[in-house]
Amino acid sequence: MIAPLPIRPATAVDVAAIADVCGRATRLAYAGLVSDDYLARVIAHWYGHERLTREVDASPEWFGFTVAVRDDHVVGVAGTGLADSAATSELFTLYVDPACQRHGIGRSLIEHALAQSVAAGTTSLQAAVLPGNQPAARFYLACGFSYLGERPIYAPHGAAGGPATALVFTRSTG
Ligand SMILES: CC(C)(COP(=O)(O)OP(=O)(O)OC[C@H]1O[C@@H](n2cnc3c(N)ncnc32)[C@H](O)[C@@H]1OP(=O)(O)O)[C@@H](O)C(=O)NCCC(=O)NCCS
Repeated sequence: MIAPLPIRPATAVDVAAIADVCGRATRLAYAGLVSDDYLARVIAHWYGHERLTREVDASPEWFGFTVAVRDDHVVGVAGTGLADSAATSELFTLYVDPACQRHGIGRSLIEHALAQSVAAGTTSLQAAVLPGNQPAARFYLACGFSYLGERPIYAPHGAAGGPATALVFTRSTG
């Protein structure tokens, strides 16, 4: 564990760094869990320059991306917003640079997402994990989340080559 790193809202200048961290962490976490083609589609769909540039700013339903920074480099990314219910927020994106994992950065980003959720008036924060992503499941349990159950996977990138369901974890924001 190192001293907590600065965490700040992302801006347009962070887009390339967000794409880089999310792409590398996704490849590592999903390797062997989904097909190579699925992995490529996930990265192209969610972390392409155009989408990230559009989504870097917050809106009423989307709290925006948050970045953890070390020596002027982005080493962690979180993206949080309202879930289907106005009482629930969801951590849609959470990635820590593989070289910087297990230093408390993910936990700090969760604390920030909880504070954003409280400010938005939601009473619970959810996160979905692909089946088999045991490190992420252990991480969420260690951060005070409980396992809620499975739900159909949301896959606008195309479901072929990936799982049919995701594992959902939840934590009270109080
Ligand atoms: C999951 C992830 C965000 C965790 O971030 P992190 O900065 O490494 O996590 P932290 O250092 O804050 O870990 C907090 C606690 O969670 C648990 N934990 C974290 N990573 C773990 C792992 N690989 N295996 C088991 N437990 C883990 C530990 O209890 C840890 O505390 P400790 O290090 O004192 O034992 C990061 O590993 C990651 O980016 N993974 C790839 C992408 C991913 O799966 N994202 C989440 C689902 S979309």
